[in-house]
Amino acid sequence: MNIKLINEIKSDIKVEFLTKDRLKKHKLKKRLKLAGFCASQDSVCFLHEKNTLACGIENDEADNYRSASAQTIKALKSSNYKSATFTVDENNIQAMIEGIILGGYEFNEYKSKPKKTKLKNIYLSCTDVKKLQKSFQDAVIVAEATCFSRDIVNTIPQELNPPSFAKLASKLAKDNDLICEILGEKKLKKEKCNAMLAVGRASVHESQLIHLTYKPKNAKKIITLVGKGLTYDSGGLSLKPATSMVTMKMDKAGACAVLGIIKAVSELKLDIEVHAFIGAVENMIGGDAYKPDDVITTRSTKTVEVRNTDAEGRLVLCDVLDYAQEKVEADYIFDFATLTGACMVALGQYTTGAMGHSTKLKHSFVMQASTDSGELIGHLPFNRHLKKLLKSDIADISNVASKPYGGAITAGMFLDNFIKEKNKEKWLHFDIAGSAYTESPWDCNVYGATGAGVRFMSSFLKTL
Ligand code: BES
Ligand code: ZN
Ligand code: ZN
Repeated sequence: MNIKLINEIKSDIKVEFLTKDRLKKHKLKKRLKLAGFCASQDSVCFLHEKNTLACGIENDEADNYRSASAQTIKALKSSNYKSATFTVDENNIQAMIEGIILGGYEFNEYKSKPKKTKLKNIYLSCTDVKKLQKSFQDAVIVAEATCFSRDIVNTIPQELNPPSFAKLASKLAKDNDLICEILGEKKLKKEKCNAMLAVGRASVHESQLIHLTYKPKNAKKIITLVGKGLTYDSGGLSLKPATSMVTMKMDKAGACAVLGIIKAVSELKLDIEVHAFIGAVENMIGGDAYKPDDVITTRSTKTVEVRNTDAEGRLVLCDVLDYAQEKVEADYIFDFATLTGACMVALGQYTTGAMGHSTKLKHSFVMQASTDSGELIGHLPFNRHLKKLLKSDIADISNVASKPYGGAITAGMFLDNFIKEKNKEKWLHFDIAGSAYTESPWDCNVYGATGAGVRFMSSFLKTL
């Protein structure tokens, strides 16, 4: 599907977004009413004889345009039209593009006969193409980077394991002129990444630490991104119940978000240096598996008592965060992880949890980047009482809290133990356990991976 910004209408059908007020004054209002259309949000109505498709919106808010565009594109894809023209609302061009590209996304890799669509060309028509060209292009870059991230998350664990993930990352590096460094298990041993290695030990696939760098000439800021890349999380010896294990291919979504973000930044040509660090590991069972009761000396030299092998993400991240902080003096450090089921309990399935010490940074995301991008972010506050629950009687810290309540926060506070004092105010942790994957469509998200993190982080990085 191609998408183009133009200033005339040249397609099979024209799309109009109508509020109840606009419907009252519309020249086709009688026909639309006859067809049962009353402009309720996301309702679509074809008037084939008038080459018009109407879609209802509650008001002119971006969220409504995004959702309506997603519904419209789905209707168009199952029609016989080859092209369609959307009239651009200048304030909502980004939301419309998100709706069209992300709502029209399909992942058909494993279908022998994927449904075919006739729809080839989408035109966005406006009066001043020059004025809107930049916002149009930027929005397309970010939406396509989100689809790139979704594709990787949706890829099955049979195909996507730590070494093939590393290959994919090095291909992205080649395509987008990034520097790429990959550490296999031999190098990880040298680096003393014992926690990360322990998690991956029962897998037949070697764990990989991937480091991609985007380094433009006049970079004004340095950003470190860290991603949890569990290509599969069976839970390890603390095995997940059968029904919870299904969908655990998505446990690499943090790593995929980080890849999507560095792809977007390099294509937007932003003046910032970005480092993406990924811990790609598979959490499996076997005679060699790490165990509850083990004590691991992490790269930072802190010791961790393993009490649950299903709390593996934090063990991978603690080593990758430590490595990243040693390699790069960054202005900001952001990590992305499908870290806890508890985050979904706290905030619901649709919202990313943001944790950290800097009130200012949290505010930038929860208020600004979230609103600008249409991704939902909620703040989960650290506190000293929850921190105590991570105490271990035999090691420096336990990998799970002694009480389950506040599980997203205690996981975040576990990571905090591996953030160096000088970096405390520069760091935020994003738990995308709920927002990264869905089994029923919502907003511009279809079944499967959502690409969570790519849009809100790109939004933030554009403001630097
Ligand atoms: N990958 C899971 C978290 C998860 C759960 C992501 C559901 C997406 C959907 C993580 O590794 C995990 O298993 N966490 C445990 C932590 C617990 C053992 C303290 C959890 O959330 O149950
Ligand atoms: Zn787990
Ligand atoms: Zn996990």
